[in-house]
Amino acid sequence: MAKNGHHNICAPTHAPNDTLQTTGLQDELSLAITTVTRPRTRERDSAQRIAAETGLPSISRADHTLAAVAEGSGRKGLLVVEREGLALWIAGQTFRYHPNMATMRIRALSQHNNDGFVDALQLTAGARVLDCTCGLGADAIVAAHVVGPTGRVRTLESSALLARLVAHGMAHYTLATPPELVPAMRRIEALHADFATYLRQEADNAWDIVYFDPMFAETIDMAPGLDLVRRLATPGGPSADDVQEARRVAQRRVVMKDRLPGRTLAELGFTKNKISRRICYGTIDAL
Ligand SMILES: C[S@@+](CC[C@H](N)C(=O)[O-])C[C@H]1O[C@@H](n2cnc3c(N)ncnc32)[C@H](O)[C@@H]1O
Repeated sequence: MAKNGHHNICAPTHAPNDTLQTTGLQDELSLAITTVTRPRTRERDSAQRIAAETGLPSISRADHTLAAVAEGSGRKGLLVVEREGLALWIAGQTFRYHPNMATMRIRALSQHNNDGFVDALQLTAGARVLDCTCGLGADAIVAAHVVGPTGRVRTLESSALLARLVAHGMAHYTLATPPELVPAMRRIEALHADFATYLRQEADNAWDIVYFDPMFAETIDMAPGLDLVRRLATPGGPSADDVQEARRVAQRRVVMKDRLPGRTLAELGFTKNKISRRICYGTIDAL
């Protein structure tokens, strides 16, 4: 689509908080909401709010184990409102959001080490970045850190459940060091959205840089917390048409991450511009 005459019919609907619209939640997993044992009013209210937003049943925890709550409610998984945030319990395993990788990368940047993602996107203070593939949001947090308060970062995640866990974590997670981490997380706008739909509704030149980091067939990144992504993520990457839409939406460039040798990048017309041991980034100019 040409850059002129295109109206933005998808105005920002989400301030940086945890009130995601997650109507698709039920489709992903059979879930119920519960709390920690002996919840305070805060956790109880939070569980009620999530139940109202998602349409999922809220089950009183009492003194029961999570396994007993799941069995009693006939659900496979539970969203558990804990004192520190939201956890996902599935078959005896609990997943919690943690910005592990972002923490390490922000520390490294503060020590003047370079970051392949920052270099590939040519991120600068004040830039507007649309991250089409949130995952655990490490790249989005690093971007928010580098573009600073005068910039803007919005991140899209198609898995409703992952989007909710990450948005909640970004809104509530606390950690004293590095001091830049939490302010960067709080500035991110995290949306539950499919990039293919989102891009087609976005205005021309709405962002400086549009970024894709699709799920690789085999996961090469062994970062902690990735199990959660593997379990919930949507596979596959952008089509040639999606990349064209991204170029229309971008004012400067579109960047995509791929595994070496970067076959998908080549197929989609990206120029490989940053290569590390196992991954490469490709860039394509805005339209
Ligand atoms: C490899 S992860 C991204 C990791 C992320 N860059 C980070 O730093 O944590 C890819 C993510 O993109 C999401 N995804 C895949 N297709 C999508 C789509 N069409 N729209 C939005 N998100 C999508 C997946 O669900 C998955 O969580």
